[in-house]
Amino acid sequence: MTKQTQQVLWSTRFAFILAAIGSAIGLGNVWKFPYITGENGGGAFILLYLACIALIGLPVLVAEITLGRRARQNPVSAMQFLAQEEGVTSGWRLLGWMGTFAGVLILSFYSVVAGWTIAYVIEAVSGSFTGLTGETSGALFGDLIGSWEEGLLWHTFFMLLVLFVVARGVRHGLERLVVILMPLLFGMLLVLAVYAAFAGDFLKGLGYMFNADFQALFQKCEGEACEFTAEPLLVAMGHAFFTLSLGMGAMMVYGSYLPKQASIMNSAIVIALADTLVALLAGIAIFPLVFANGLQLGAGPGLVFVTLPIAFGSMPAGLLFGAIFFVLLLFAAWTSAISISEPMIAWLTGKRGLSRVSASLLVIGVAWFVGIGSVLSFNLWSGETYQLFGKTFFDLKDYLASNILLPLGGLMIAIFIGWAAHRRLSEEELALQNPAVFGLWRWLVRYVAPLGIILVFLNAIGIF
Ligand code: PFF
Repeated sequence: MTKQTQQVLWSTRFAFILAAIGSAIGLGNVWKFPYITGENGGGAFILLYLACIALIGLPVLVAEITLGRRARQNPVSAMQFLAQEEGVTSGWRLLGWMGTFAGVLILSFYSVVAGWTIAYVIEAVSGSFTGLTGETSGALFGDLIGSWEEGLLWHTFFMLLVLFVVARGVRHGLERLVVILMPLLFGMLLVLAVYAAFAGDFLKGLGYMFNADFQALFQKCEGEACEFTAEPLLVAMGHAFFTLSLGMGAMMVYGSYLPKQASIMNSAIVIALADTLVALLAGIAIFPLVFANGLQLGAGPGLVFVTLPIAFGSMPAGLLFGAIFFVLLLFAAWTSAISISEPMIAWLTGKRGLSRVSASLLVIGVAWFVGIGSVLSFNLWSGETYQLFGKTFFDLKDYLASNILLPLGGLMIAIFIGWAAHRRLSEEELALQNPAVFGLWRWLVRYVAPLGIILVFLNAIGIF
């Protein structure tokens, strides 16, 4: 197979970093991180998550970008090309397949939550946040998700937004969008964190986030009876992959557009730091408000949507801030969703010869259709009859994609670059001046990341 170099590259390394940050920072940071932290008891979970980011996520991020830039093709063809170059089985393209499948699954629930942010922009503008209490805020959110018509409307609307961009090609406009919006989102979260420091129960919130109680973390209690559970470990690792957009080829495709001379290691560090900072800041803004308003820590997917509007409803110019915040969150979700669909679109156009528009229509169309089930999970299909392993269709897709498929993809990436490929591949692509940094990365990607992922998997199924 010949190496078909992609025509269009990011204009600069900075443009790549921005696009990758746009992919990494999204609902995962502001919506998912606080709610899974709330479900898993706080500080100890956050420590586990940070360890997963540093020891597994960052090394795999470097590896995924490296493979993408080396091959300069969509994930399926990239793995086939690299396997051939390294003289190993072309079965490695399975990694690309798995990634595209995970992408559709993720997009099909991501879009529903992104749709809620659109609904909340409108709620903010129309003044619904004024004077909200814990109870009325919960009711507002309950009304939204309880209506499948509304859910479907916003889900469809968001998918059309994604379609609009991806059909025209990823690089158009993305750089400009991210350079303005991400600092703004960060600024808004700062405002909220400062507000939470005054109006919320700041000490309790911070204590919750930074006091690590590992004993409580691994205990699942129903009433008086508690038993050991390894689940939080799996969730923390899965989220490290989800939040860094890893394991499904998104960073591989973005890496394939990266100019040759750009430093992958430095870019990856910046991406991971920015992403982690935003997640922690979101937590710092949210948890003090949860305690001050007597809200449920384990409220689940509604946590952010119930908590923040209370703050907007009582702060000066809160309605304006609220509207701006949800618009920014919508943009963050948009830039992430674009990257989720990109691997599959790149494959359909690069390998299957579809036009960009047809490929986009197909991918978004399928994800939209599967996404209807995610909308219904909160209303018509919320009952036990429609659940599997105690999870709704929405939860099941999130669990399968984030906690299983993405880490599995990451495992394959680590094994490929660490064991199947020659050391020369990464040495050439990373071009690091400092041999110690290269040595450390290689040790992490060869031993720590794969073993860590395997141990967490074994742990989760109760073998270890
Ligand atoms: N990283 C995104 C977020 O935190 O919202 C979600 C995501 C994007 C997951 C791209 C996977 C992906 F390939």
